[in-house]
Amino acid sequence: MPASLEGKRILVGLSGGIAAYKTLSLIRLLVKAGAEVKCVCTPAALEFVTPLTLETLSGNPLYSGLFSARNESRTEHVSHADWADLLVVAPATAGTIAKFANGIADNALTTLFNAFDKAVIVSPAMNARMYRHPATQANLARLRQWGVRVVGPACGDLACGSQGEGRMPEPDILFAYVEWVCRHAAGFSPFGVPEEASWFKGRKVLLTAGPTVEPIDPVRYLSNHSTGLMGCCLAEELCMRGAEVYMVNGPMHISPRFPPYRMIPVQTAEEMRDAAIGLWPDMDVAILSAAVADYAPKEACGQKIKKTSEELCLGLRKTADILAGLGRTKKAGQILVGFALETENEIENAKAKLERKNADMIVLNSLRNPGAGFAVPTNQVTFLDRKGRVVPHGLKTKEEVASDILDFISTL
Ligand SMILES: Cc1cc2nc3c(=O)[nH]c(=O)nc-3n(C[C@H](O)[C@H](O)[C@H](O)COP(=O)(O)O)c2cc1C
Repeated sequence: MPASLEGKRILVGLSGGIAAYKTLSLIRLLVKAGAEVKCVCTPAALEFVTPLTLETLSGNPLYSGLFSARNESRTEHVSHADWADLLVVAPATAGTIAKFANGIADNALTTLFNAFDKAVIVSPAMNARMYRHPATQANLARLRQWGVRVVGPACGDLACGSQGEGRMPEPDILFAYVEWVCRHAAGFSPFGVPEEASWFKGRKVLLTAGPTVEPIDPVRYLSNHSTGLMGCCLAEELCMRGAEVYMVNGPMHISPRFPPYRMIPVQTAEEMRDAAIGLWPDMDVAILSAAVADYAPKEACGQKIKKTSEELCLGLRKTADILAGLGRTKKAGQILVGFALETENEIENAKAKLERKNADMIVLNSLRNPGAGFAVPTNQVTFLDRKGRVVPHGLKTKEEVASDILDFISTL
């Protein structure tokens, strides 16, 4: 697989906030992912980080002086804007946000912003009172209206010694946003389609993810190889499209980088069913990507089973069928999406499952395809719906598959 940002040209804009030191790590992540990076600074940003550091990390000359004799072109703000696919401004100070929102072009970064008509991410970082000030809030609202994606701020310790909302999100979170925007850049520009156009905006989505574990005794359990990666990719994609995500997840070692509205951790198939059934009446969509155990031990032993006899038989019972349960109580307007993992007669079995479970869509993965299924970063799926559509896809990353699934749901 090529690096996730291979061939992308990214401008990193820094303004004069203490969080500028974190942006250095972001630049490293972007370069490591294959992007070509150039930095643009306000004069105040250079009180916090040096040109040498920015030029060394990005591997490109810094653009910081609107009228500098060092500039390669006389109108560097325009040539930089032409060059880049994406502008990420981190940290964005209250002052720079105000200038962006009011068209003030008085330094290299603000002038470049005015000349830029592609995807823009702005990550505010400031003291909590500065962030809550009506001027800052109004300026951010204006930027959002134009389709600028505002990322953060996060809550926590602030450089001024206080606590609250105002921290710049960590570099890996910003990096995840950049990856997402690069995957969707065509439909996402400040003056193109804003986030509000997403079908998922404001909709409530139940998402199940990860494996379930079914206890045998206090130290042993039955489970499967699911890592929850597909579910995490779906959660992130849903969050980015503005959905209110309720994620019911079995034990996973990973979690979504953009936090869902609510996470409900469970262990067993029964707990997952109870949580899903409880949430379902209020949901617009349910996507059941969890790998739920089909059978569980009839009874979990209260004590650790001793290694005494030569043979041990485990009595198993069928677990609850969550997809069928939701299908039975589905109301008009609700959309139910199930996953199927088949090893033979894939399409026929998936079609039958769609009907039997009263689902609206099945995402079929076949273990016969190399690179598909558990514990790999890729998947190869086919979508089936009740109109009889059968849409096969090639091998893709799980992020791309998540995006395809949501695009397909939007057409249901
Ligand atoms: C030590 C220090 C830290 C600062 N941190 C921030 C900050 O995190 N966010 C912010 O909006 N302003 C911060 N400021 C104020 C800005 O640097 C100031 O408003 C400056 O004019 C911003 O210019 P610029 O937006 O053109 O970069 C800080 C100032 C100082 C002295």
